Amino acid sequence: MSEWNRQVAKVALVTGASSGFGLLICLELARSGYQVAAGVRRPESADTLMQEASQAQLAERIRIIQLDINDAEQVSAAAAEMKQIYGRLDLLVNNAGEAVGGMVEELALDAWRRQMETNFFGTIAVTRNMLPLMRHTGQSRIILMSSISGVIGFPGYGPYASSKFAIEGFGESLSLEVMAFGMDVVIVQPGAFGTPIWKKSFGELQVTEGSPYKGLLQDVLDYSERTARDSGNPVEVARLVARIAGMRRPKFRYCLPQGTLWTAWAKQLLPDRLFQRIVYRMLRRR
Ligand SMILES: NC(=O)c1ccc[n+]([C@@H]2O[C@H](COP(=O)([O-])OP(=O)(O)OC[C@H]3O[C@@H](n4cnc5c(N)ncnc54)[C@H](OP(=O)(O)O)[C@@H]3O)[C@@H](O)[C@H]2O)c1
Repeated sequence: MSEWNRQVAKVALVTGASSGFGLLICLELARSGYQVAAGVRRPESADTLMQEASQAQLAERIRIIQLDINDAEQVSAAAAEMKQIYGRLDLLVNNAGEAVGGMVEELALDAWRRQMETNFFGTIAVTRNMLPLMRHTGQSRIILMSSISGVIGFPGYGPYASSKFAIEGFGESLSLEVMAFGMDVVIVQPGAFGTPIWKKSFGELQVTEGSPYKGLLQDVLDYSERTARDSGNPVEVARLVARIAGMRRPKFRYCLPQGTLWTAWAKQLLPDRLFQRIVYRMLRRR
């Protein structure tokens, strides 16, 4: 990194940069002038990001760092690398995550643990390791990738929703802890977007023959597929993150697209049982 860049360029770290939102966020932040550290757990999975960055002439602003957020040694090595290479960290985008689904009665406890390990404990590990450098930088910002599943728990989404509800609580506490240092925390709650996440762990979800939940689970899977297919372009989320990065006073929460925001409002306004009945009917509609 040149001496000029060391002095003036803002630095961002994005976790889960190999695909989906994370990849697009790296490109949008680089386009906005950030020096971007792109965290990936397998170095070879960064090829697509670097090809797209080269095509957009942004490759010089992106550096790949190995970061499996569940690997304590890698997380602490990444914090040391950030300090040594950039000497500052203006923006941390905690984006890495996966989606584990299944019905409470049927899903093994290990699957729940795996879900919390990545989406919750991994996010905490990265955040607490990066905080010293971020406090030192001053005016820094942490963006947490939550979800509409951090607002509403759908059937079959138990592990995923629990992990995102936990992120919401974590974000609220953290926000008040770092406020005195001029830092802020922002939570982004996307609805369903067509990224690879649905074909990964959630895609392994099978409707078991003879299961008492078979019909409901099938309806939920059909609904998720429909909404992911019909939803907006994932680049909308990446552009929102880049906009938040540049705002002087961002709000604490952003929900998108508009339809998802209305759903979140409806949950706040309606009595819980009425809201649950509406959600249930919507899921069971064919
Ligand atoms: N797509 C949606 O509809 C949606 C909606 C709301 C919120 N979100 C959230 O958005 C975030 C990004 O998801 P996405 O939709 O863009 O899905 P995605 O394309 O599957 O991206 C997930 C990223 O997280 C990485 N990752 C998973 N476990 C990791 C670990 N232990 N350490 C480091 N990286 C890890 C994946 O790496 P690998 O390539 O190695 O697997 C991948 O780069 C997630 O937090 C997700 O919950 C997604």
